[in-house]
Amino acid sequence: MSVQKIAVIPGDGIGPEVAAVGVQVLEAVAELHDLPLEFTWFDFGAEKYLAEGVTLPQSAFEDFRDNYDAIYLGALGDPRVPDMAHAKDILLGLRFRLDLYVNLRPARLLHPALTPLKNKTPDDLDFVILRENTEGLYVGIGGRFKQGTPDEIAINEMVQTRKGVERIVRAAFEWAVENERKRVCMADKANVLRDAHGLWQDVFVEVAEEYPDIAARHLYADVLAMELVRAPEDFDVIVTGNLLGDVLSDLSAQLVGGLGLAPSGNIHPGRVSLFEPVHGSAPPLAGKDIANPLAMVLTGAQMLEFLGHGEAAMAVEAAVVQALREHRVTRDLGGELGTRAVGDALVRFVHAPPPAA
Ligand SMILES: NC(=O)c1ccc[n+]([C@@H]2O[C@H](COP(=O)([O-])OP(=O)(O)OC[C@H]3O[C@@H](n4cnc5c(N)ncnc54)[C@H](O)[C@@H]3O)[C@@H](O)[C@H]2O)c1
Repeated sequence: MSVQKIAVIPGDGIGPEVAAVGVQVLEAVAELHDLPLEFTWFDFGAEKYLAEGVTLPQSAFEDFRDNYDAIYLGALGDPRVPDMAHAKDILLGLRFRLDLYVNLRPARLLHPALTPLKNKTPDDLDFVILRENTEGLYVGIGGRFKQGTPDEIAINEMVQTRKGVERIVRAAFEWAVENERKRVCMADKANVLRDAHGLWQDVFVEVAEEYPDIAARHLYADVLAMELVRAPEDFDVIVTGNLLGDVLSDLSAQLVGGLGLAPSGNIHPGRVSLFEPVHGSAPPLAGKDIANPLAMVLTGAQMLEFLGHGEAAMAVEAAVVQALREHRVTRDLGGELGTRAVGDALVRFVHAPPPAA
């Protein structure tokens, strides 16, 4: 198997600490499963921006695009850069310029104690959200007129293209087929956004016809928000637009343990894609060895899956489950370990998994 190249951007705040643990675990599992992974570290982030004025040079962008299989990002955000100029160039720049149209956010309960929902078990909470990642209200088209006056007007345009909607809806059905799941639910607000989300309705019906073995269901996004809390077991795959996906996937993350455990992928199937934990750079925790590295580690598992290493991904996830069971976790999850000690525990668990139940 040819070498698979991974660009590691640890970034700001707690990013470097959680990225160190993520790569430590990935290297352990790669050695064990004989995976040809090669990690190259890049120092793009606030420090470099403040010192050199550099965000993401064109040459680096082209290098990632042409020579790498995946990008593994810690977090970006630094109080010394209040307008997030560097993060916009690096994170949003990569998302848009690499056309990473699938934001894949799994919501899987890895330990029964982690959900705030009553009487729900890991069997009930196991779904993914595919959020459209390049269109909608996030295209930055709009403006403010007569700003600061009583007559002020503020407008943001929602842009949906048939191509953009079709490819994310298709990605959802394909994900269901590949992962042997039977239900795809599309959420929109077509009752209000009759045109932009009317297109979602049309396309969803058309694409669903190509997948007769998958149950296709539609819910308005507000109803879905209620249903996810009432009956999360009714969902396998959810596909939705950029803004609604942003909100629904944060709700879903809380149903399975919160920010410290939430991974995400920014994916263009078949092309270099970017994997990052959902949490930010948590500046107050930085440099104290207290950040929870599990979201970054689970993000690594998601990246392994994308790179075609499903078994290794499962081994990483099993190690996280064991850490949760044995309470080898950081303070935010009620444990006593530091970031690095969690990493060491995970590596031990990767080498010596518990016997299958
Ligand atoms: N994708 C990204 O890189 C990303 C995402 C969100 C926020 N940010 C940026 O991060 C900075 C901080 O933002 P914020 O405070 O709103 O969000 P945050 O996710 O950094 O923190 C929110 C809360 O969760 C806690 N937390 C987050 N990750 C944790 C972890 N791994 N272990 C333990 N606790 C954790 C923090 O201490 C804080 O209380 C800002 O500059 C923001 O713009 C970046």
